[in-house]
Amino acid sequence: MRVLSGIQPSGQLHLGNYFGSILPNLEFIGKAKESFFFIADLHALTTMHDAETLRKAREDIVLDYLACGFDPKKAAIYDQSSIPEHTELMWILSTVTPMGLLERAVSYKDKVQQGVTASAGLFTYPVLMAADILLYQADTVPVGRDQKQHVEIARDIAVKFNNLYGETFTVPEPSIRAEVAVVPGTDGRKMSKSYGNTIPLFAADAEVKKAIMGIVTDSKGANDPKDPEQCTIYQLHKLFLSKEQSKALAEEYRRGLAYGEAKKRLLEAFIDTFGVIRAKRTKLSAQDATKTLEAGRVRAQAVAAATMAQVRKAVGLR
Ligand code: ADP
Ligand code: TRP
Repeated sequence: MRVLSGIQPSGQLHLGNYFGSILPNLEFIGKAKESFFFIADLHALTTMHDAETLRKAREDIVLDYLACGFDPKKAAIYDQSSIPEHTELMWILSTVTPMGLLERAVSYKDKVQQGVTASAGLFTYPVLMAADILLYQADTVPVGRDQKQHVEIARDIAVKFNNLYGETFTVPEPSIRAEVAVVPGTDGRKMSKSYGNTIPLFAADAEVKKAIMGIVTDSKGANDPKDPEQCTIYQLHKLFLSKEQSKALAEEYRRGLAYGEAKKRLLEAFIDTFGVIRAKRTKLSAQDATKTLEAGRVRAQAVAAATMAQVRKAVGLR
């Protein structure tokens, strides 16, 4: 099984990203025989137009992954932009991609509705994503549900190309991450950078403490019984606990655990779980990112070059 996935460099990592994306990705890598993970920096250009922000976000995401336990010996991690074959293949694929296929992509419409500029790059985003996948002859692509349609477009493009030019590409399968419960933010809505309600994984102790102590609750008194299902503190705390531990904690809420005490315990659970990872993150430097990305690039480049040689020959460019 060859697994491949792309990660968008998206700024300061939060608990939602960790439980919803990083943890399942790391589990996938653990099980796969061979895996490729790349930083989708070319895709990021469709929404990020500040060079320094992008540069920093690319470095941060590699260091975040390394701190969280990504093993560069087990999987290659590299920048999409460091392998020019991605864009070369994208062009060739775009010549066999029906317009209608892209017009049906919901993510383009969603993003435009959210205010992202409707650029040609945003529209052809799925073709670049198809190139990312097909270049490595990946058979399994672990993604969140929102990316399923993009992998299906990649499948359609692979089939179309193979029909036109002969068997060239492995037709990939999406592997949709088991629906992780949406991690709530400090205001009870979905945790998201755009809502400013995050608990950051790698921020300074004081900032994490401020975020946790600032979780919005109702106005029940210290000893009043509380409904754990309606309480953001409990919903977050549960992420760190086993089933039995969650049940026992829920019982305490029903008996009247004070919100202040509940927050203190959540902070302790956070530090217990992430203490080692956080310490490791502070020791990693820009050099570690560069070294890791270069090793990944070398491994990825070999596969990309072999596929491109085949593609050029198939279409008559060689
Ligand atoms: P944000 O909403 O903060 O901008 P991103 O869209 O960059 O987060 O999220 C990257 C990935 O992290 C998503 O694909 C999703 O799988 C996961 N994720 C983000 N927020 C949450 C959340 N609140 N609960 C569960 N998973 C999340
Ligand atoms: N579009 C994906 C996302 O926003 C990132 C991505 C780019 C990707 N290329 C990919 C994911 C190839 C899987 C395979 O999350």
